[in-house]
Amino acid sequence: MTTKAEPHGYVTKGIHWVSAGLIAFGYFKGLENVSELADPATFRTEVLFALAIGALFAFRLFWTKKIGGATRLPQDAPRWEHFASRAVHIGLYASVFGIVLSGLGIALGFATPLLGGVFVTTMIGIHELALMALPLLLIAHIAGALWHKFVRKDGVMESMVY
Ligand code: HEM
Repeated sequence: MTTKAEPHGYVTKGIHWVSAGLIAFGYFKGLENVSELADPATFRTEVLFALAIGALFAFRLFWTKKIGGATRLPQDAPRWEHFASRAVHIGLYASVFGIVLSGLGIALGFATPLLGGVFVTTMIGIHELALMALPLLLIAHIAGALWHKFVRKDGVMESMVY
């Protein structure tokens, strides 16, 4: 039996659930083909959306590291849980930043023919890889939350909800 997790603060919780919504929306409305960027309104919306998610996750990283505190996993939780939690959180940030930066790279390459096809193709490759990795990491993340709720009953799941 480990100690109970302290709840996350309202700012961390707010950012967490707003960003979960934005990620879901991003998958829902994502483009099918690079050529859709030829429409100036679509181009602008995509770039603004990428910048908004990037800024939110950068602020979230700053907030949890410097102000609100990161994981609420109790110190005396098993070592493997600390390792798994850290690995998945790093993976989540890496894949979100990977999606955002490669998305901006695609837009840049599309608007700057001088950069050439290899640049755009590379950016699309990174974009698709990160878009595939994120749902897998989210499955692990949600499975972890459920593990804490139903098996460990240590308040880690509740720390992001109540
Ligand atoms: C039903 C969906 C979700 C549930 C139940 C959930 C649950 C949780 C819980 C309980 C924590 C706290 C873990 C701890 O203190 O160690 C947490 C943190 C975190 N979650 Fe989620 N989450 C969900 C969706 C998402 C989504 C869509 C993302 C987006 C990438 C995300 C990214 C993160 C990150 C990066 C953290 C680490 C703390 C932070 O930087 O805010 N989660 N989540």
